[in-house]
Amino acid sequence: MRTPLIAGNWKMNGSLALVEAFAEAFAEARLPADVEVALMLPFPYLGAGGAAFRGGPLALGAQTLSDQPSGAFTGEVSGAMLADLGARYVLVGHSERRTLFGEDDAAVRARVEAALEHGLAPVLCLGETLEEREAERTEAVVLGQLAAVFDALPPEQRQRLAIAYEPVWAIGTGRTASPEQAQAVHAAIRARLADYDAGLAEGMRLLYGGSMKADNAAELLAQSDIDGGLVGGASLKVDDFLAICQSAG
Ligand code: PGA
Repeated sequence: MRTPLIAGNWKMNGSLALVEAFAEAFAEARLPADVEVALMLPFPYLGAGGAAFRGGPLALGAQTLSDQPSGAFTGEVSGAMLADLGARYVLVGHSERRTLFGEDDAAVRARVEAALEHGLAPVLCLGETLEEREAERTEAVVLGQLAAVFDALPPEQRQRLAIAYEPVWAIGTGRTASPEQAQAVHAAIRARLADYDAGLAEGMRLLYGGSMKADNAAELLAQSDIDGGLVGGASLKVDDFLAICQSAG
């Protein structure tokens, strides 16, 4: 069985005080035994998060990484540095990275490879725009983004990823995909993974992201191919995020 993963994506939000508040609240919280929880923190808070989350239920994650191992790349952060700080997960290919920072499929692939080289688990983000959905291109776009990475990976590496389906039109908009819409895309992703390997498809965690909140998480997470969530806005409030984690049990 797949262990659900709820990952909070703080984006460029939060503070040192919020890191401490989450560490304290989660250390005392009752979480379902079979749920994994991670927080993807901004780079400056990873050190504090690594220390504060130690021994508790929160796993540490980052939001992106460089595709280069080291060197003259001012402002960049390598996979080795993230691993040094105790990060387990790293988001790759988030739609904001793709659109605002020009990361195309090749850039996403290179970052996934860099993450794997340093023992990090990439959470590969896929998703279509509203225009693409309305043109009935959702599956073509999402499965194309998937293939751009998975075709290039050696088979034994593929199982180390998790995938987040995040329809771009649902991110930060308050407009969530319906459980049926999300389930349909998740099923298509799993079917495509089965073309590589049946065991890979069975074991892969497929997270839904895009305006997941405490009041809609349960019905999304109840879908057979939704194995967790990538939560933006609602991961900035301890109580909201805890409620989502609790509904994943
Ligand atoms: P949201 O963001 O939950 O605020 O829609 C999700 C994400 O971008 O990861």
